[in-house]
Amino acid sequence: MGTFHLQPLLVAALLFSASFALTIDEEIAIANRQKVAFEQHHPTDHVHIDINIDIKINNPRLLSAHKALQALKDALYSDPNNFTGNWVGPDVCAYNGVFCVTSLHNQSESAVASLDMNAADVAGYLPKEIGLMRDLAVLHLNSNRFCGVIPEEIKNMTELYEFDASNNRFVGPFPAAVLGVPKLSYLDIRFNDFDGPIPPELFLKPYDAIFLNNNRFTSGIPETIGKSKASVIVLANNQLGGCIPRSIGEAAATLDQFIFTNNSFTGCLPVETGLLTNASVFDVSTNVLTGSIPPTLAGLSKVEQLDLSRNMFTGDVPGDVCQLPALANLSVSYNFLTREATECSALDGNMDISFRDEANCMGQSRPTQRSAGECTPVVSHPVDCTKVKPCGWPSMEPTPKPAANNNPPPPVASPPLPPPPLAASPPPPPMSSPPPPTSSPPQPVASPPPPVFSPPPPIASPPPPPIILPPVRGTKYQSPPPPLFPGY
Ligand SMILES: *[C@@H]1O[C@H](CO)[C@@H](O)[C@H](O)[C@H]1NC(C)=O
Ligand SMILES: *[C@@H]1O[C@H](CO)[C@@H](O)[C@H](O)[C@H]1NC(C)=O
Ligand SMILES: *[C@@H]1O[C@H](CO)[C@@H](O)[C@H](O)[C@H]1NC(C)=O
Ligand SMILES: *[C@@H]1O[C@H](CO)[C@@H](O)[C@H](O)[C@H]1NC(C)=O
Ligand SMILES: *[C@@H]1O[C@H](CO)[C@@H](O)[C@H](O)[C@H]1NC(C)=O
Ligand SMILES: *[C@@H]1O[C@H](CO)[C@@H](O)[C@H](O)[C@H]1NC(C)=O
Repeated sequence: MGTFHLQPLLVAALLFSASFALTIDEEIAIANRQKVAFEQHHPTDHVHIDINIDIKINNPRLLSAHKALQALKDALYSDPNNFTGNWVGPDVCAYNGVFCVTSLHNQSESAVASLDMNAADVAGYLPKEIGLMRDLAVLHLNSNRFCGVIPEEIKNMTELYEFDASNNRFVGPFPAAVLGVPKLSYLDIRFNDFDGPIPPELFLKPYDAIFLNNNRFTSGIPETIGKSKASVIVLANNQLGGCIPRSIGEAAATLDQFIFTNNSFTGCLPVETGLLTNASVFDVSTNVLTGSIPPTLAGLSKVEQLDLSRNMFTGDVPGDVCQLPALANLSVSYNFLTREATECSALDGNMDISFRDEANCMGQSRPTQRSAGECTPVVSHPVDCTKVKPCGWPSMEPTPKPAANNNPPPPVASPPLPPPPLAASPPPPPMSSPPPPTSSPPQPVASPPPPVFSPPPPIASPPPPPIILPPVRGTKYQSPPPPLFPGY
């Protein structure tokens, strides 16, 4: 028993303080070991028996909560701040972190509506008895050292509305049990060690906020993301790959903040992105997106923070994007862009808007650009998004509409003139709102198929700027104390 009680602490301490020194493989190994240890010592049929026969609680709701809280206290092997020190006796409503209200179901009974253990720094696991807190609407476990898995019994919490398990040591696949919590609206499991794919059902739930950032989720984003009713979706700092689904545009009515930074998304940014007219934050920085910046982004009429930096975008920065009406912060830095509209460079003098475009391929026209040696291999083979499969754009309409005259002149760089638009027949892109500005200089199509630039070029020379952190200020859900790590 000594070993079990010590080992997870040690592991937690290791993960906590030295996570930057461990390789991913080491972390995975530790997480797996932790999970095995957990399963060995807490077999799934293990049930706590309430041994305190003196407890007399007439209210059955509080009696259940009492069982749950005592089981939780038993499941802690470290409580350095004595957070649960007063979790004794029958009056659960007086326990630290417990908040009671009048029961929704019986006006003459109290019920435990909220358990707030944020930053208590306890170590332990979540026992299955947690499910006995059927009246609980808010469960905040942020910034502790909970390990193991989220028990299936969380489904029994039929009133649970907010679940914040962020900044702990939970492991295993996406905790599917939470998808069975009927009233859940706020799901925050960021800063844990969950791995594997994100289940498609997640986006079919009527959640308002979904925070999955800083885990080890892999695979792609399910197509169902378009069905999401969430206002905030944060998938940052995982190992997700594949395309950003074109269905994303279907989430236009509700999506406010869309933060996908630091994954491995490939292909082109879908033109449907421009349909997200209610989005205030759109961040796909630090991925492997290729091709042009879709001119449809000019449809993001409410966007305040637009971050496209650290990808492999080529072509130009459309003037309309730099003139978005709500813009406060635009970064296109660390790409392979060859030009930008004058409206963009003009942002330099705008005190209200932060604009970053360094480390691109705009030569002498802009400060602090990449060298020709870095640029040429990429810029000479620009990716034509209308030809990319599967993460491409619908073929652009062939109409040579005399596009807005304020169009930037064709790239200085001397790429061959684009051939006439492709086949005459293609259906118009399924965009409704902002008609895709025909303006952007069509991609110069080199005859050979665009090479697949698998690994992003090591951004060798320029010193990496300070970690680009999320717009905490503008973030809607900052109320639960942020994880101890910098981040969303
Ligand atoms: C923990 O809290 C309880 C109740 O407040 C108190 O009786 C006990 O002495 C505390 N223990 C320590 C180690 O501070
Ligand atoms: C409501 O709670 C009171 C006090 O616990 C109890 O006597 C009564 O039976 C409950 N009513 C219902 C409908 O459960
Ligand atoms: C959870 O609900 C199921 C079905 O209603 C029940 O059998 C089980 O005892 C409950 N468990 C807990 C811990 O609440
Ligand atoms: C990016 O994600 C990786 C894991 O996928 C993580 O190790 C790294 O710290 C993240 N970078 C930032 C700036 O958060
Ligand atoms: C944006 O939100 C408003 C208010 O909720 C809504 O009326 C509008 O339809 C939304 N926009 C789109 C494109 O759905
Ligand atoms: C713009 O975003 C960057 C990175 O996300 C951040 O460091 C900076 O503070 C932001 N500036 C403004 C004015 O919001």
